[in-house]
Amino acid sequence: MIVSCRNVSKVFDDRVVVDELDLDVPAGQCFGLLGPNGAGKTTTLKMIYGVTRPTSGTVHVFGEDVSRDPRSVRKRLGVTLQENALIEVLSSVDNLRVFGRYHLLSEAEIEARVDSLLDFLDLRSHATLPVQALSGGYKRRLSIALSLMNDPELLILDEPTTGLDPAVRLSLWSRVGELRARGKTVLLTTHYMDEAERLCDRLAILSEGRVLVDGAPKQLILSHLARDAVELDQDPSRHAALLGALHDVKSLRGGRRLIFYGDDGPALLDATRRAGADHEGLHLRPTNLEDVFLSLTGTGLEGGA
Ligand SMILES: Nc1ncnc2c1ncn2[C@@H]1O[C@H](COP(=O)(O)OP(=O)(O)O)[C@@H](O)[C@H]1O
Ligand SMILES: [Mg+2]
Repeated sequence: MIVSCRNVSKVFDDRVVVDELDLDVPAGQCFGLLGPNGAGKTTTLKMIYGVTRPTSGTVHVFGEDVSRDPRSVRKRLGVTLQENALIEVLSSVDNLRVFGRYHLLSEAEIEARVDSLLDFLDLRSHATLPVQALSGGYKRRLSIALSLMNDPELLILDEPTTGLDPAVRLSLWSRVGELRARGKTVLLTTHYMDEAERLCDRLAILSEGRVLVDGAPKQLILSHLARDAVELDQDPSRHAALLGALHDVKSLRGGRRLIFYGDDGPALLDATRRAGADHEGLHLRPTNLEDVFLSLTGTGLEGGA
């Protein structure tokens, strides 16, 4: 395992924000920590890269106890924080050079890595402008480039795509895919379930500092719910009748929304119509991770605390 957390808790001012967490990240996988704001994702990452100590429990990275020797662990990993940490008055190239010197790379190594990272993250066009003049998407890509300067075995990305437009998100996703294909281990957090579903080999869904479930995205969907979902918007006074008619079908409700789950979508859609659901707003879609989260907690991911 590249990362192994055992029974890890973190308490801030009597508040338990990470609660007896167990987590294993195998080599060469992209692992996602998924959960609403405040779930404890960033705190967990900080304990993994050794800037925050667990209140109890142990964190091993590359088989080493992080609290015993955080420096030796940090040499082998790259981190992109939730907030970009860039020197705004310097150019991208100079930010990368500064970081390379921090890692004690030779000047020749620095120039070679800067050159390849400018291409890899598509930074060439504005590489000599001060960072303060650049877009959010560009800064995010540069932050990721910085975290790759030491050619880390493990890359940690805290909400890499929050606030970015869809085109930039897509291009970052493909970069993460390439890193994984090159054998790097990636640990990322997100509150976008589409991102987690697309990128992650395995993921853990966190809520209030606890792992609710972990596994491969598809397997979580199939084991907790089913392949397809029929969703409808219906006056709550009609819910009881519909739920009664479809009593043997897995379902969820929230406000006016009713969702039924089944492995044969078209048959489920038919059954829902026959049970008397309004046709308007009735639709069939693939079940996703937000459904899993909703079924576990009764609240949506994006709308969570
Ligand atoms: N240094 C700190 N002192 C006190 N409370 C903190 C500190 N850091 C985080 N928290 C609290 O811990 C909880 C989890 O935070 P965080 O790990 O940042 O969640 P996430 O990254 O999932 O949004 C939040 O309620 C946050 O307010
Ligand atoms: Mg966070």
